[in-house]
Amino acid sequence: AAALAVASLALWSWPRGSHNLQGKVVLLTGAGGGLGRLLALHLARRGCVLACADVAAEPNEETVALVHQQQQHKQAARAYTADLTERADIYGLVQKVLEDFGHIDILLSNAGVIQGGALWELSDAQLDLVLDVNLRATMLLVKAVLPHMRARAEGHVVAVSSSTALVPGRGIVAYAASKAGLSRAAM
Ligand SMILES: NC(=O)c1ccc[n+]([C@@H]2O[C@H](COP(=O)([O-])OP(=O)(O)OC[C@H]3O[C@@H](n4cnc5c(N)ncnc54)[C@H](O)[C@@H]3O)[C@@H](O)[C@H]2O)c1
Repeated sequence: AAALAVASLALWSWPRGSHNLQGKVVLLTGAGGGLGRLLALHLARRGCVLACADVAAEPNEETVALVHQQQQHKQAARAYTADLTERADIYGLVQKVLEDFGHIDILLSNAGVIQGGALWELSDAQLDLVLDVNLRATMLLVKAVLPHMRARAEGHVVAVSSSTALVPGRGIVAYAASKAGLSRAAM
């Protein structure tokens, strides 16, 4: 709740005149969850058109329904079910969004998972999950959208990181490593 409050405050205080987001197509991952849902609703208010992606179909569709309700039209958002641990889902997602909208103005890689524990306490599956969703999926998404953005000479990529990328936290070593990797992957 505290993180959402901070995010909400940051979005609320974002200078409105600085970027015109009207009609921008945003591919937003993790849209079914806390921060993702908040971002979807905020960006829709700023005039963005949202391609909302999540592995959890029902909460993601709920987010889209909330955007429709808020904006009072059904073109404001569309739901896509994709498991970001699956390479085929990631490339399929980008392809489908491009087919549906023609282009992607902003990739907002927000989906993230946290698995607590020291390295020796995590199973290989837990380690894979954190690194795959938080780091690998973001890099593959960027790899998939970048050629289209470069062809249009337009586009933005935003990946949600964490303070743990900078300040190591005890017991969240995999999560911290994934977020630190994201920072290093930024170009
Ligand atoms: N909440 C915090 O305190 C906090 C602090 C710093 C950074 N963050 C970062 O903010 C982002 C959002 O966090 P949140 O608190 O809203 O998380 P959340 O758990 O509420 O939501 C994450 C969303 O990602 C989706 N997701 C998980 N695995 C997926 C997969 N394999 N494929 C597709 N979607 C998947 C979930 O279904 C969920 O809807 C994350 O990247 C997180 O690391 C959160």
